[in-house]
Amino acid sequence: MDMLQSDVESVLREPARAELQNPRMRTQKTPEVQEELFGCSQVSPSGTPTRDGSSTQFVSELPVDPTDGAEYSFRHLTRKDVVQNNHSLHKYPAKFIPQIPQWALAYGDPKPHETILDPFCGSGTTLVEAGLRGSYAIGTDVSPLAVVITRAKTARITITESRVTALLDSILIRAGRLVAPISRDLVPDSQSHGLHETWSFWFRPSEMSLLLALRNAITTECGTDPELEQFLLACLSSIAKSCSFLNEDQIKVRFDKTKKLAEPLQAFQSFARDSLLKQIVLGRAYRRAGARFLTEKRCATSTGLPPKSVDRIITSPPYINAIDYSMAHKYNLFILGLLDPALFKAHCREYIGVTERAVRSQDLQTVPLIADDGVDPIINALWAQGTPTSRNRAFVIGQYFRGMRSAFEEFLRVLRPQGQFFFVVGETNRICGLTVETAALLSSIAQRLGFVVAQQFYHCLANRSSMRLNRSTTGGTVKREAIYIFRNKGA
Ligand SMILES: C[S@@+](CC[C@H](N)C(=O)[O-])C[C@H]1O[C@@H](n2cnc3c(N)ncnc32)[C@H](O)[C@@H]1O
Repeated sequence: MDMLQSDVESVLREPARAELQNPRMRTQKTPEVQEELFGCSQVSPSGTPTRDGSSTQFVSELPVDPTDGAEYSFRHLTRKDVVQNNHSLHKYPAKFIPQIPQWALAYGDPKPHETILDPFCGSGTTLVEAGLRGSYAIGTDVSPLAVVITRAKTARITITESRVTALLDSILIRAGRLVAPISRDLVPDSQSHGLHETWSFWFRPSEMSLLLALRNAITTECGTDPELEQFLLACLSSIAKSCSFLNEDQIKVRFDKTKKLAEPLQAFQSFARDSLLKQIVLGRAYRRAGARFLTEKRCATSTGLPPKSVDRIITSPPYINAIDYSMAHKYNLFILGLLDPALFKAHCREYIGVTERAVRSQDLQTVPLIADDGVDPIINALWAQGTPTSRNRAFVIGQYFRGMRSAFEEFLRVLRPQGQFFFVVGETNRICGLTVETAALLSSIAQRLGFVVAQQFYHCLANRSSMRLNRSTTGGTVKREAIYIFRNKGA
C-alpha cells in the first residue's frame, strides 16, 4: 500500500513540543536514537553543577541569545526530533542535530535569502535547514560520499508519488537481470568492479553482486535525472552495510560474524520508497521557500567561492584522531563507484584530522611544528616522549591545526565583513596522556587571523561509550562541544 501523503507529512512535521515540555512524556532513548543523537545526549541529571559551578540547562532548542559560558543539553530530544526533514537518510558519524543549525540560522537579524556555507558539510544537515528558510545553501566536503548524501537531502525530486512504485520496480527488475553476469566475474580478493581487494572479507558474493547490480540499474534508469540518481545512490549506500558483516553500531570497522544479513533488493526497495516519498514533500518545501543549493567535493581550505560572498558559515569540523571518515565509508565509496581503490590511501590524507593510520614514515623525519605558540609546545612534548606512538600523534596534531588554520583563512576570505561564523567543536581531546584544549586553541588561531568572538558556550555530548566508539584515549573522552559565534571584523 502506498504511504499516504499525510503520513509522509506527519513524519516530516516539527516535533511535538509538548513531549519536550512534559518530562513524563519523554521517550526512552534506544540505541538507534543514540546513533542519531551522536553528538548530544547522556549528560548528568538535571541541575548537576558543571565544572565552573553553573548548572546544565536542559533545552529542546537553544535560546535566541545564549548565555556566555553556559552549558546546554538536548538530552530530552527524541528520535523524532532529530530525524525530521529526512535527516535519517544516511548514518553519518558526528552529524549535527538539526536544532543547532536551526538556531544558528535564526540567530541575530537574518536577512531573506542569505548565502550560507557549511565547508565541512558531512551529511548536509546545515544545507537542509538553510534551504527550508529559503537560503542559498552551499556545502563542501572532501568526502565524495558526503557530497552524494548532501545532494540527495537537498534534491527537489520532480517525480510524483504515484510514479515511485513503478520506478523502483523497474530498478529492481533491471538489477535482477544484471546480477547473474556480475556474480560470474566477481572474483573474491580481486579488484573487480572497482572494489577494494578486501571486499570479500566483509561481503558475500551473493549480496555484493546485488548491490552492484542495483548501482548499475539506478544509473541506467535515472541517467537523465541526476537529482533522482544521487538520491537513490544515497539510499543504496544507506542500506549497504546492513548487507555485510560490518558491525553497524561501531564507527571503527569491526566484523560481526553473528549478523543476519539483509537481502539487498528488499532492503533497498523498502528504504528507498519511504525515503523518496519524504524527499518529494521536502522538495516541495524547498521550492516554496525559494531555496538554492550548491554542493561540491572540495577541501575546506579552498572552497572556490568568490571573496566576501557568504553571509554565515555554520559548521562543525572533524575531531582530532577520533573519527576515521575514509575508513567508516570505505566500502560505500567503492560500491557507489565514487573512488578508485588504488587512490584510497591518497584519499585518506585529504582529510583534516588524519588518523594515526594515514601517517607515513617520511612524515616523521623532523618535529612536525606548525609555527603556532599554542600548538607547538604540545607537538614538542609528544615528540620528546620519543615513542613511535607519541611521534605519530605529534604529526596528527600538527596536521590538524595546520589544516584548520588554512581553513580559517579561507573562511575569512569568503565571509562578508561582519558576517558570522558559527563553529561547533569538541572541547578537548586526550592524546598520549596529554589533554589538548582543542576548542580554545582553535579559537586563539581564529582570533589571531582576524575573527572576533561574539559569544561562546557549550552543549553536552553523548556518552561516547554508549556509541561504542572504542577510542578511550581520544574521541572517547570528549565530554562537551564548544559553540563559538565568531564575527569577521574585516572591512
Ligand atoms: C563533524 S563532520 C560534519 C558533520 C556535519 N555537520 C553533519 O551534520 O553531517 C566533519 C566533516 O569534515 C569533513 N572533512 C574532513 N577534512 C576535510 C577537508 N579537508 N575539507 C572538507 N571537509 C573535510 C569530513 O569528511 C566530515 O564530513
